[in-house]
Amino acid sequence: MLSYRHGFHAGNHADVLKHIALVALLRNLARKDKPLLVVDTHAGAGMYSLEQGFAVRNAEFRGGIGALWERSDLPEPVADYLDQVRAVNPDGVLRQYPGSPRIALGVLRPQDRLRLFELHSTEGAILARQFAQEGRRVTVTAG
Ligand SMILES: C[S@@+](CC[C@H](N)C(=O)[O-])C[C@H]1O[C@@H](n2cnc3c(N)ncnc32)[C@H](O)[C@@H]1O
Repeated sequence: MLSYRHGFHAGNHADVLKHIALVALLRNLARKDKPLLVVDTHAGAGMYSLEQGFAVRNAEFRGGIGALWERSDLPEPVADYLDQVRAVNPDGVLRQYPGSPRIALGVLRPQDRLRLFELHSTEGAILARQFAQEGRRVTVTAG
């Protein structure tokens, strides 16, 4: 049985570093017209509330995305990443944090595809619900 819940750590400094690299990598790969297939083998839940639930217990996000949220002087790759987080917080208040699947989808083009795997049944169900409307472009596998 899996006990790890990424919600405790969503948006912390490690997530920020990892997701800045993810956005930069995908931007680079997308410089060619050729379609991409992105496979996220450990996808998590895909979206995390920063206002309630796991994330507020230790508030790890305060030392990660919380430290960047108000900044407007960031280098381009960091600002590009931050735009992905801002896209899911349209009223300008940091309420939720996108996981790697949502961040990847924000960068991918119409011709690209995203394949997601998640073993934890609860996380996987949240993930599947979230991407149910995306059609064939995104597939979610419980496994
Ligand atoms: C660090 S979290 C995912 C974070 C996510 N990639 C992100 O950046 O937002 C790792 C996830 O992998 C899942 N997991 C662990 N072992 C797995 C496996 N063998 N196959 C698929 N998912 C797995 C866990 O349930 C957990 O949700």
